[in-house]
Amino acid sequence: MRRPAPASSEKAQTQPPHMLIPASTDRTPPVKNGPPCLNHGPGMQSYMETGDLSEYTQANRRAMNAAAPLHRECRHELLMTRFKEKGYSYLTKVQTEILGRIGVSGKAVAQLACNNGREILSIKNLGAGRCVGFDISEAFIAEGKELAAAGGIDCDLVVADVYAIPDAYLGQFDIVFISVGALILLPDVRRLLGVVAGLLVPGGTLFIYERHPILDLFHWGDTGDPPTISGSYFQSEPTVSTTGYNYWNKQPYDSPPIYRFHHTLSDIFDACLRNGFSITDFKEYGHDISAVFKHFEKNRHRLPLCYSLVARR
Ligand SMILES: C[S@@+](CC[C@H](N)C(=O)[O-])C[C@H]1O[C@@H](n2cnc3c(N)ncnc32)[C@H](O)[C@@H]1O
Repeated sequence: MRRPAPASSEKAQTQPPHMLIPASTDRTPPVKNGPPCLNHGPGMQSYMETGDLSEYTQANRRAMNAAAPLHRECRHELLMTRFKEKGYSYLTKVQTEILGRIGVSGKAVAQLACNNGREILSIKNLGAGRCVGFDISEAFIAEGKELAAAGGIDCDLVVADVYAIPDAYLGQFDIVFISVGALILLPDVRRLLGVVAGLLVPGGTLFIYERHPILDLFHWGDTGDPPTISGSYFQSEPTVSTTGYNYWNKQPYDSPPIYRFHHTLSDIFDACLRNGFSITDFKEYGHDISAVFKHFEKNRHRLPLCYSLVARR
């Protein structure tokens, strides 16, 4: 089957940002009467077969570069102030505890899809050795370099598609870190963990701290308890929206198309196992790290809202 190209432009949609739109083609029958399907991409299998992810990643690069100045307005000054404090860490308690157990002192650490680098800069401030953050967005990496300079933090922030990281980085890292909001923008989790395997030294560690994929079933504005399911857990098509990606102030705006990819927990476990990782720690939590499902924390019917996964290779 010929793979259709991602849409380059389209009308703004009415859905709120950060919402994963249910797919029309599904591993299960399509959701009836759901929000309009905006799919312009192929099923996961077809682009896994063609092997070409670049059109999606280039589309997301444009969307993230458009989002960067809006994110910057919301948080840049505060981050600049904070990173000027010696040893400042933006990391959450869970991230800090797990990194403490893994042991970062003097270790070489890479973060994939690092955005403006606030997490990898914090890892450096925890005492890590060489630190490198990779992100596809020139604008976010530029902001990260300002933060690093403000704090005098020695951390390389590199503009790179995680699926095309230069060979010079192969086998260079003790720890690879992937954190909230990265996986949903990355089309192929199995290939991603193949990249991670290549970056790690033998015996190296992967640490993922991510929003739970069950959140892809809900609209972020849904305050029901339990919330209404409006997507399928087994959706395999990418989804696209043009209402923006500002999870800081949650204001919609006209955005270049943003492609999102749902990965089930079994997709993630499978990707670990097929790339030679042993999962040493996995935990689901009831707190929100997505910034848009905070209200779910108070529900009587509790959902898993995020998870941590540690794996060794
Ligand atoms: C929502 S941010 C979250 C990252 C980080 N955990 C944070 O909280 O800032 C996701 C990042 O993934 C980046 N990204 C998306 N696709 C990418 C790709 N193919 N390669 C590298 N970075 C990518 C985006 O530019 C964006 O900065």
